[in-house]
Amino acid sequence: MQDKNSPEMNIHWYPGHMTKAKRMMDENIKLVDMVIEIIDARAPLSSRNPDIDSLAKNKYRLVLMNKSDMADEKENVKWVKYFEDKGIRCIPVNCRNAQTIKNLDKIIKDVCKEKIERDRKRGILKRSIKIMVAGIPNVGKSTFINAISKKSSAKTGNKPGVTKGKQWISYKGEFEFLDTPGLLWPKFDDVNTGIILAIIGSVNDEILDICALSYKLIEILKVNYPGLIKEKFDIDESMEAPMILEEYTKKRNLIKTKGEIDIQRGAKLITDDFRNVRIARITLEKPENEPIALT
Ligand code: G4P
Repeated sequence: MQDKNSPEMNIHWYPGHMTKAKRMMDENIKLVDMVIEIIDARAPLSSRNPDIDSLAKNKYRLVLMNKSDMADEKENVKWVKYFEDKGIRCIPVNCRNAQTIKNLDKIIKDVCKEKIERDRKRGILKRSIKIMVAGIPNVGKSTFINAISKKSSAKTGNKPGVTKGKQWISYKGEFEFLDTPGLLWPKFDDVNTGIILAIIGSVNDEILDICALSYKLIEILKVNYPGLIKEKFDIDESMEAPMILEEYTKKRNLIKTKGEIDIQRGAKLITDDFRNVRIARITLEKPENEPIALT
């Protein structure tokens, strides 16, 4: 029997939605030369669905490690190297800040240089590169598309040579972004993935046990950032996670009417501290700790 306090047991996914998302993805991927996959820099593996590797086979690829402003800078550098060692170009970005994507055109051209060269040899000089943005929910796909749209000349639909009924965003005259991002489903093969996605806020935490989530967060902080709990909260971090949460809740003075401490509110608050980058810029997953191999 599953433990009712285990956060992973309550994460439900709806096969109907999943099937629809997959069908859209299969349909749209045929229309593009390139796939830009967006992931969350705080959890670069849990926030990617490895199915993208087969879905985007034969396409030019780029990983945008978004929300890098919330993640640990040192870990961002390591993750870029991790993906590049697997042959996937990766750049850390903050899609809320257009500055971080200002060189995107040069990077896309570099990733697609083989195609550009092939077209050039055939005398085709003006064919734009068609791109689909893809990722799991909440990684920043819409934010990225909005940032691109602001810099784009116009939205173009039903153009000759471009599939009917699709909206494309023309970017710098050389690229066309499909305006509907590809929705990938999170992969929950490893139970930790669901928990990590809930901590970063990609899974609705109202359906989850917030205490169990915050214990996991505390455990990760202890391992990945020794000394941080002591430094930020002045709490002895050699204690077990439930004791640390209890201390935190007391220090925050979160008391129920009968005078008992309100652990639920403490758990919510420490998780919000993390999500709002009030503790520090934190990366939950480190490449050196990850046994999962990319294909
Ligand atoms: P999605 O389409 O992939 O589902 O994600 P979406 O763009 O809706 O982004 C999810 C949330 O993440 C949004 O916040 C968005 O503003 C925020 N976000 C996206 N990119 C970045 C980034 O690079 N850095 C930071 N710090 N945040 C980012 P929200 O709270 O849901 O909405 P709002 O605050 O924009 O109103």
